[in-house]
Amino acid sequence: MNIDWANIGFGYIKTDWRYVSNFRDGAWDEGVLTQEDQITMSECAGVLQYAQTCFEGLKAYTAEDGRIVTFRPDLNAERMTDSARRLEMPVFPPERFIDAVEKVVSANREWVPPYGSGATLYIRPYMFGMNPVIGVKPADEYQFRMFVTPVGPYFKGGAKPIVIKISDFDRAAPHGTGHVKAGLNYAMSLHAIVTAHKEGYAENMYLDPGTRTKVEETGGANFIFITKDGTVVTPKSDSILPSITRRSICQVAEEILGMKVEHREVLLEEVKDFAECGLCGTAAVISPVGRIDDHGKEIDFPSGMEEMGPVIRKLYDTLTGIQLGRIKGPEGWIHEIPLA
Ligand code: PLP
Ligand code: COI
Repeated sequence: MNIDWANIGFGYIKTDWRYVSNFRDGAWDEGVLTQEDQITMSECAGVLQYAQTCFEGLKAYTAEDGRIVTFRPDLNAERMTDSARRLEMPVFPPERFIDAVEKVVSANREWVPPYGSGATLYIRPYMFGMNPVIGVKPADEYQFRMFVTPVGPYFKGGAKPIVIKISDFDRAAPHGTGHVKAGLNYAMSLHAIVTAHKEGYAENMYLDPGTRTKVEETGGANFIFITKDGTVVTPKSDSILPSITRRSICQVAEEILGMKVEHREVLLEEVKDFAECGLCGTAAVISPVGRIDDHGKEIDFPSGMEEMGPVIRKLYDTLTGIQLGRIKGPEGWIHEIPLA
């Protein structure tokens, strides 16, 4: 594979094989691996008219011992079930989701970046309504697909702290779909992210849409904050996507590192008092935030703009250590891909 692994960004690179299964007459077919990357569908497909689509994101890694592994794919399968239910789509069975992950990664094994390269293989499962729908209602036919693409860091500069802004737009509504991985949430955030990028910010901090006084998340990652006495604090809200990375970090902090962890409402007002701030997610891993711009008023974290703060560094090293097989994590977190 002629790829400069250390220098790829977070973009799409077409790989050889993808998995496809169709839902018709009330049942999923057996599913196949295919080299066909193009999709043909009705001009009136449910996904094209009313955005009936949801997705997932997880990664495959080459571990230190050479095995190809994924991290907690059962939780992605579970979350996709929740997303499908919320969007009135049929559930793709979780055991078949895991089977598809194994098949796609195994078939594309040459695309899994080597251990230590800094790159990983991003896996994108997704599902969408395919038959014609013109009255507002769920489709009857769906396609589930899964492709893979090698990726580097989500934010340019990798582990360098980023600057974000507090957005005046919302990404989710109270009692809406913020807690599931609906494509529509990301469509909602496009204008906000284009605006933030134009102004020189790497991401947006979204506030709770009801009162705009509490921290929610960014367009593609949850927040973690570290207090001055070393407690990990993560915002709690019904409209935040329940990040698998965030849940894993909190468990690692508590059980392996013996730290205090609080999952609670976080007021915007208290953000200035934290010692460190980071964004966590599959794509973001843990990306440090050095500064938050609140409408011209700057919140600067004591960890600064040069490197990750010490606590976030420790969490980062432990999490990635587990993902790459250097550190033993809780039972069942690492799922080895059988190479067929
Ligand atoms: N929040 C949003 C809005 C996301 O899109 C993602 C990415 O999946 C996350 C958080 C992080 O979730 P996870 O750690 O499960 O990848
Ligand atoms: C992920 O982290 O997997 C996501 O889906 C986030 C997305 C913004 C790339």
